Amino acid sequence: MLPQAELHVHLEGTAPPELIARIAARNGIALPDGLLSVDGRFHFRDFLHFLRTYDLAASVIRTSEDYRDITYEYLSGIARAGAIYAELTASPDHAALVGLDDEQHYGGIAAGIDAARREHGIEARILVSAVRNFGADQAVRVAARAAQRPHPYIVGFSLAGDERVPPSDFASAYAIAADAGLGCTIHAGEWQGPVSVRDALRLPVSRLDHGVRASEDPALVHELAARGITLNVCPTSNLALGVYRSLSEHPLAHLHAAGVRVTLGSDDPPYFGATLAGEYALCAEQFGWSEQQLRALTAAAIDAAFCEERLKVVLRERLHAQ
Ligand code: ADE
Ligand code: ZN
Repeated sequence: MLPQAELHVHLEGTAPPELIARIAARNGIALPDGLLSVDGRFHFRDFLHFLRTYDLAASVIRTSEDYRDITYEYLSGIARAGAIYAELTASPDHAALVGLDDEQHYGGIAAGIDAARREHGIEARILVSAVRNFGADQAVRVAARAAQRPHPYIVGFSLAGDERVPPSDFASAYAIAADAGLGCTIHAGEWQGPVSVRDALRLPVSRLDHGVRASEDPALVHELAARGITLNVCPTSNLALGVYRSLSEHPLAHLHAAGVRVTLGSDDPPYFGATLAGEYALCAEQFGWSEQQLRALTAAAIDAAFCEERLKVVLRERLHAQ
């Protein structure tokens, strides 16, 4: 089992339909209409529909214990498959919509992280994400709260949601997060092309979530490599949402060969039929990457992680020992 690490996975998006159903039942609420298709999977046609389905699923997650269970179940599952570290993208806006404050939200997530560490040895930290389509002012509020470090596991700031809202709108939010010492990443270059990546690179970010469409602009690929920006790439997500029609069209191997730092993420695993270990296996099968090259992906994730240096040392030791 190869040691893996991931930096791009949305916490509400890790909960499979069965867990969402269990949580809804214990909260005494019916599953929202339109959430699942007849085959029992999450129902969505395209990216914007996916975002709405994600919001529907998130709407039944109501308590601190719910967040604990989702976190614990996800981390234990990937730990059993070999993962040693994950940065979980949390969305305080989704938590606020169901009436949870930061303490309840992050407290639940942290309890899940602690239990998974105790029982499965995996480590995890939290990225605080704002939602683009909730607007720049709300993102500033989310960043300002994150800057107060409501929980010690919070290490970074991120931006998800509808990519049509440009990164430059969020310069103030990123300035607040970066000034507070939070690591910064942003979704870009998934639905929007190279222009969105260029715009994102004006923010104080060291990573991009997806970023794959930078591959359409050779000068931009060169810039990513030269600046040491890490792309957190999710090939199965890209296929499921139709960013690329097939893996043979996917630019991951090209970006990697051009010297761009890349890591693998599962994004929203049950929505896309992805697993972290599966993303590694896909690279071996599709691109012929060796075990050494796959281990280098984990090393790249540790290098780009926003956690404290002491933890990175421990993770590198684990990577080399396993
Ligand atoms: N929110 C949850 N998952 C997302 C994704 N993959 N892209 C953008 N926003 C998201
Ligand atoms: Zn994502």
